[in-house]
Amino acid sequence: MDYNELSKLADKARENSYCIYSDFSVGAALLTKGGKVYKGCNIENASYPAGICAERTAFVKAISEGEKEFAAIAIAGGPKGERSNDAYPCGICRQFMNEFVKGDEFDVIVVHNDMSYSVHKLSELLPYSFGPESL
Ligand code: THU
Repeated sequence: MDYNELSKLADKARENSYCIYSDFSVGAALLTKGGKVYKGCNIENASYPAGICAERTAFVKAISEGEKEFAAIAIAGGPKGERSNDAYPCGICRQFMNEFVKGDEFDVIVVHNDMSYSVHKLSELLPYSFGPESL
């Protein structure tokens, strides 16, 4: 699975976004080292903090199915009907993902409005992280 394909799946995952409060739909496509893809979208809630981001939805789906090794995640998002240029993962998602991957080995692919994308290591987005090895 190349990152172009993964980016398209992330964009597709936006279709199921439940974002009636923000109207900002986000999709994620998480690639395991074994080549499987888990998609996720943001799911909001009338009690706002109870909502969950697309990236964590994808990780929760994968982890709960027994997946343990992850290669990359693609993220696409923006106001409904548009694609933002910079749908970077929020701080909570960066921390959440850091629990399950090695930051310097895991690629975060941010999909831009023209479907081009930027690739970052998670360690670039979350330097000096606090993780399982810190305890
Ligand atoms: N959102 C994500 O799904 N991922 C992020 O990394 C940033 C924000 C969602 C949360 C909320 O449903 C909407 O985008 C607006 O913040």
